[in-house]
Amino acid sequence: MSFTKKTIKDIDVDGKRVLLRADYNVPLDGDGTITDDYRIQQSLPTVQYLLEHNAAVIICSHLGRPKGKVSPKESLFPVAKRLQDLLGKDVEFATDCVGDRAKKAAESLKPGSVLLLENLRFHSEEEANDNTFAKELASLADVFVQDGFGVVHRAHASTEAVTHHLPSVAGLLLEHEVDTITNVMQKPDRPLVTIVGGAKITDKIEILNRFLEIADAVAVGGAMANTFLHAAGVQVGKSKVEPDELPLAKEILHKVREIQKERDLVFYLPQDGVVANKVDKAAPTRIVDWSAHIIADIEAYPKRAVHDASQVKDDEMILDIGPFSGAFIAGLLQLAGTVVWNGTMGVTETKSLQGPVGPTAHGSELLIEAMLGQFGNHPFSVVGGGDTVGFIQDRKLTGSFDHVSTGGGASLELMSGRKLPGVEALNSA
Ligand code: 3PG
Repeated sequence: MSFTKKTIKDIDVDGKRVLLRADYNVPLDGDGTITDDYRIQQSLPTVQYLLEHNAAVIICSHLGRPKGKVSPKESLFPVAKRLQDLLGKDVEFATDCVGDRAKKAAESLKPGSVLLLENLRFHSEEEANDNTFAKELASLADVFVQDGFGVVHRAHASTEAVTHHLPSVAGLLLEHEVDTITNVMQKPDRPLVTIVGGAKITDKIEILNRFLEIADAVAVGGAMANTFLHAAGVQVGKSKVEPDELPLAKEILHKVREIQKERDLVFYLPQDGVVANKVDKAAPTRIVDWSAHIIADIEAYPKRAVHDASQVKDDEMILDIGPFSGAFIAGLLQLAGTVVWNGTMGVTETKSLQGPVGPTAHGSELLIEAMLGQFGNHPFSVVGGGDTVGFIQDRKLTGSFDHVSTGGGASLELMSGRKLPGVEALNSA
């Protein structure tokens, strides 16, 4: 176990008022209906534990980024209703997280009952890590429990300053997330295969560097691969590219070569892709195999002037990895002891005309099948937050992986080896 902080199991909560920080930042549609309640579901074991141990549970969270203003669209009221359904017991709701309304609701809350406070970010003091605001929050309870893994990379009033005013321990979800992710990064069952996708190199640079240091194989997909491909001489048409990050992409390619002089490391960029001239489920797609155009000498950029069917045309964009690349990465997964996956391989939001897997989601879908053992080997699988989770939630496959993180930025930072202020602030075990 790598978790060094006290948890709810180390303290007596019987008859106490517990302020529980959850991350109920869940997606809502235009009508205020929750479209993905994974984070709420994952919070239940801690809430249930506290209730079974006779605590009065006062839950606080943020939702969205209302920037210190009351915004009815970002009210946590729909979450209170969903939590009530999932817990199978009444959940009271206070229309503010501090002030008289919150105080009265907290004071009258009986042990064994649950109260959800309105969005913390309706107050600008939350994100400012304001001590007076934190003190007011803390005054509602006897103990603070941090269980909002998705938000512990933020030093906010409800993650950092509040811990100066109450005994502060971790909930079960936080402990499980930190333990699982830390263990997998520190002592994975090898070979460790890592797959990084998503939109931008800049968002993933730290995790990519960490993977290069510790993994046996690093496969890159998603729009961020385009910048690498461009840097390696491949024509990418009107694909999303970060022109300012070309030097960074080249630097990473250079770093890979240096590491490869010292030890075995597979660094895989897509060799083929699914392209179309727009992001639309009905747009015709074609597969382009550009493998012959990846130049060995990255210093030879700008790209060679080769124009043929094996290049992405000027009006096309790369929207997924192609079948050869998918098969190669799935092959790596046949050897893997552990896989860590962060970021989809293509545009997965576009649904197909026939079924749930859209025309540019087959790369990600194939990798899911490989990760889940459909071709024989079944590696230990960890999925790091954000869009990746949305995709597998949509496919109703969340329960099939060994660990699916509830954190987006938080899991990225933890995997990158950064300290998380909301964890650091808790009492040590
Ligand atoms: C998330 O969704 O990653 C967390 O809830 C944190 O939200 P934030 O990026 O708005 O701080």
